Amino acid sequence: MKNILVTGGAGFIGSNFINHILSNRDDVFIVNLDKLTYAGNLENLADSEKSKNYTFVKGDITNNELVDYIFRKYEIKHVINFAAESHVDRSILGAQVFYETNVVGTCVLLEAAKRFEVEKFLQISTDEVYGSLGETGLFTEQTPLSPNSPYSSSKAAADMAAFSFHHTYGLPVVMTRCSNNYGQFQFPEKLIPLMIINALNDKKLPIYGDGLNVRDWIYVIDHNKAAELVWEKGTPGEVYNIGASQEMKNIEIVKLIIDKLGKSEELIQFVKDRPGHDRRYAIDSSKIENELGWKPEYKFEEAISDTIDWYLTNENWWKRIISGEYQTYYKTLYGNR
Ligand code: NAD
Ligand code: DAU
Repeated sequence: MKNILVTGGAGFIGSNFINHILSNRDDVFIVNLDKLTYAGNLENLADSEKSKNYTFVKGDITNNELVDYIFRKYEIKHVINFAAESHVDRSILGAQVFYETNVVGTCVLLEAAKRFEVEKFLQISTDEVYGSLGETGLFTEQTPLSPNSPYSSSKAAADMAAFSFHHTYGLPVVMTRCSNNYGQFQFPEKLIPLMIINALNDKKLPIYGDGLNVRDWIYVIDHNKAAELVWEKGTPGEVYNIGASQEMKNIEIVKLIIDKLGKSEELIQFVKDRPGHDRRYAIDSSKIENELGWKPEYKFEEAISDTIDWYLTNENWWKRIISGEYQTYYKTLYGNR
């Protein structure tokens, strides 16, 4: 049995990861440590909660004593660190918590992993640490780090810390840097679920700037299968980029959602740009494809349709979210745009 500490497992990608692992294998025991911030939601884990190979601990990855207790009690030998403050716009509104969770929290986990001599530490990073691309080119693992937002700078700092533990102490750290994910359970602050839910409610669809910024989209299950592979087969000290070669301009994504929902393009509203808005992300994932044999399985057209259908049939999930503190967030971010 492999005892894994999964952090941030109540968030979008982490909960999909736990559900994927527990429904496909029985050789792992997962301890999910999550603070349940605004982005954490235990409803995402309704199926996994029934598993004997799963337990949940509510708590903060910056809490040394708690982390130490978990490693000792559950004899943790593997760490997969999804926990993070993950939204760029929120990092622009207030950066401190991003450095606390993403940098200090990762360091607390690294220290514990060193003390307890873990066999693998997977740091879930992001392609945003590479900065922004022009019209052409792709991010490779050799692209220099050049993060532009408080969010991406906090993730880049965590990456540096993680590799310093590998270099200095021989901690078996592996790292993934993935492009933009979409799929079920994504919090409706991110582009795709925000646009789906606004469109369903006939609310304006706020597109930043000229709408021509490009993101490289990947279905969350493809990301999680890649993460599973890197955790088990990745070489310590190595980074693996993950992407599905699905570049889209923001305006194209929004028009596609409008079209699938049978709404009017009059809902589109161009608004003031995100400060420091990265123009284009695009991933070269040939390393993970050639070295670990991974490749994306989901076609964008089908997976985006499934995602839209999921939000259509899971109104209760998102209605609970948008009825709470989300309203204050929405007014703060979009009120004067
Ligand atoms: P999310 O915001 O949906 O979930 C983050 C989770 O972390 C939440 O459950 C939250 O409660 C938890 N958390 C936050 N602070 C914590 C703390 N101090 N202690 C314990 N738990 C805490 O994020 P996501 O989109 O699922 O992203 C997960 C990871 O993947 C992040 O590290 C992010 O940087 C990375 N990533 C995300 C994307 C993407 O497109 N969403 C792409 C590449 C990489
Ligand atoms: O690339 C990986 C990253 O992708 C992850 O590390 C981050 O955690 C994740 O949030 C995501 O960052 P982005 O900033 O690219 O994602 P977001 O969904 O916030 O925005 C996608 C694009 O859509 C971006 O160009 C900004 C634009 N946008 C976003 C929102 C929320 C709009 O035009 N309007 C909006 O209301």
